[in-house]
Amino acid sequence: MGAKSIAVLTSGGDAPGMNAAVRAVVRSALSMGMEVYGVNRGYNGLLKNEFIPMTLRSVSDIISDGGTFLYTARSPEFNSAEGVKKAADNCRAKGIDGVVVIGGDGSFRGARDLVGAGIMCIGVPGTIDNDIACTDSTIGYDTALNTAMEMVDRIRDTTESHDRCSVVEVMGRKCGDIALNTGIAVGAITTLVPEVPYDFDKDIVARIERSRSTGKKHYVVVVAEGVGHTEELAKKIEAATGVETRATILGHVQRGGSPTLRDRVLASQMGYHAVKLLHEGISNRIVATKGLDVVDYEITEALNRDRVFDEELYKISAVLSI
Ligand code: F6P
Repeated sequence: MGAKSIAVLTSGGDAPGMNAAVRAVVRSALSMGMEVYGVNRGYNGLLKNEFIPMTLRSVSDIISDGGTFLYTARSPEFNSAEGVKKAADNCRAKGIDGVVVIGGDGSFRGARDLVGAGIMCIGVPGTIDNDIACTDSTIGYDTALNTAMEMVDRIRDTTESHDRCSVVEVMGRKCGDIALNTGIAVGAITTLVPEVPYDFDKDIVARIERSRSTGKKHYVVVVAEGVGHTEELAKKIEAATGVETRATILGHVQRGGSPTLRDRVLASQMGYHAVKLLHEGISNRIVATKGLDVVDYEITEALNRDRVFDEELYKISAVLSI
């Protein structure tokens, strides 16, 4: 039987476009004749009974806002059998039979547990890292890429003026997608990602020397957060090449800001798809994109997939950055 009353929450690290996804969930649900509640601060809100009834106007003017107006949290209490049962009981007491969870892998494990406790759940991938294996793209990723590119372009201006090298760390703990794409877009001399081990002499020093021999005088190295040691790396580069080098860690600036058109559209499509599944009585799925299509996969199957790193793009980046 299809859901009659649903809740929507955002969980884990926030991502630009989460508001657009909540808006899509609320308006899709209302259009399909369901009741819909917003839940504050992720799974914590389910545990604390923080259900806010949503109307068409509750989600006005948020499509262009970064962050998440429902707030977000990581909830240790929910990560226990008692926590999951309490959350499911609170949903049932409120008459809620389905939940849309907007977040990353950790949030989807929570959704799977909630399904086990009898509540229908659909996961919507919202994270800047693009580290969800089953989908081509996650909500927030495109905005983060454009922010990182703009920031590195600015760093590049001053790097060039001073004939320096800049080592710029972008986000991505286990996933080098932000680094790889930003590196290509800004013409980084080398890009370091967690998926590919690097050799300091060959992949950094030799590449700088080779470019220097053809007249280049400034260099940008992009490093994914998961590779780490950014400050140390900058010092090593300066010592090995004699090029004055600075380190910049972009950090959480990449998580904020108004979502790009791409993220707003993606969030709208995914939010709508999630509600449609619940309306049809389908549960335990993660919404994803595959090429131009919006699809969905069983949660455990999706979580067990291995991410595929784009080796070809990495090769192209090495050929062009010279
Ligand atoms: O998952 C998104 C992300 O921004 C990662 O890139 C980063 O490692 C992490 O979240 C930072 O999390 P926190 O909000 O706890 O600082």
